[in-house]
Amino acid sequence: MAYNLLKGKKGIIFGALNDKSIAWKIAEKAHEEGAEFVLTNTPMAMRFGEINELASKCNATVIPADATSIEDIEALFQKTMEIFGGKIDFILHSIGMSMNVRKSLNYDELNYDYFVKTLDISALSFHKVIQTARRLDAINEWGSIVALSYVAAQRTLYRYNDMADAKAVLESIARSFGYIYGKDKKVRINTISQSPTPTTAGSGVKGFDNLIDFTERMSPLGNATADECADYCVTLFSDLTRKVTMQNLYHDGGFSSMGMSERAMIQYNKSMEVDELVKKIAEMGEEKL
Ligand SMILES: NC(=O)c1ccc[n+]([C@@H]2O[C@H](COP(=O)([O-])OP(=O)(O)OC[C@H]3O[C@@H](n4cnc5c(N)ncnc54)[C@H](O)[C@@H]3O)[C@@H](O)[C@H]2O)c1
Repeated sequence: MAYNLLKGKKGIIFGALNDKSIAWKIAEKAHEEGAEFVLTNTPMAMRFGEINELASKCNATVIPADATSIEDIEALFQKTMEIFGGKIDFILHSIGMSMNVRKSLNYDELNYDYFVKTLDISALSFHKVIQTARRLDAINEWGSIVALSYVAAQRTLYRYNDMADAKAVLESIARSFGYIYGKDKKVRINTISQSPTPTTAGSGVKGFDNLIDFTERMSPLGNATADECADYCVTLFSDLTRKVTMQNLYHDGGFSSMGMSERAMIQYNKSMEVDELVKKIAEMGEEKL
């Protein structure tokens, strides 16, 4: 059900690769709620992804941009303002990539060239987007900027690797720039800390299926889906959340406040029983010998 929450609002959505992408769901929902926007991704993602299909569904223009390139970002804002004949109201940063994760390198054997790339793509790009938007005065007062984060910024989750560092930087940028942009132009900046979600980037993390099962068992409301994330994000773009800024907002079914749940404990106990059984079988084998 649509509420026209974004009627008259214009924006830029970074990071829709295919119909699994969180940005894809947010674009669909923003369109349903009356927003107009430009979709952007890297030229490479445009070749391999399905962004044009989304664009025709949402009546959006697609403008390629590498979010690590100031030149590309500047051209993106200028073209977008030409298309809309003025400033925009919202930006979604839904970008993440780590070659260390892709190549399954552990945190204690990181490749530092990859690490720098992780930080540039997944965190500094957020700063570059905001700094360029402010320099070009591209966002209307009470505009809203949202980036997607993950609880690994606060807590260690094995195998999330250098993306955890990138998310910590991303959330810090939201606070530091949120102060400056809020004070100057009343533009708000927040991050949404989303549950593990089966997307191209998410599934790249080794052991992702087990992680998603664990967080499902741990969260009283269950994992938040990409569609639910889109619902939440739309409220942050809307005028209903004008005084929310500089926050990292958990959208994870309660996971971030949990220590141990009954469902997770049951599963843990089962695995202990299997351990005991394996030990007993081994002992029986030794007795026979
Ligand atoms: N999937 C999850 O479990 C999960 C959980 C919490 C947060 N997130 C975050 O959500 C965001 C979106 O990821 P997703 O899960 O939808 O996966 P996805 O793979 O669909 O999206 C990642 C996007 O980043 C884009 N990208 C990579 N390098 C880029 C660059 N240089 N310039 C511009 N775009 C670039 C990719 O083309 C892709 O569209 C990421 O920030 C991710 O860390 C994901």
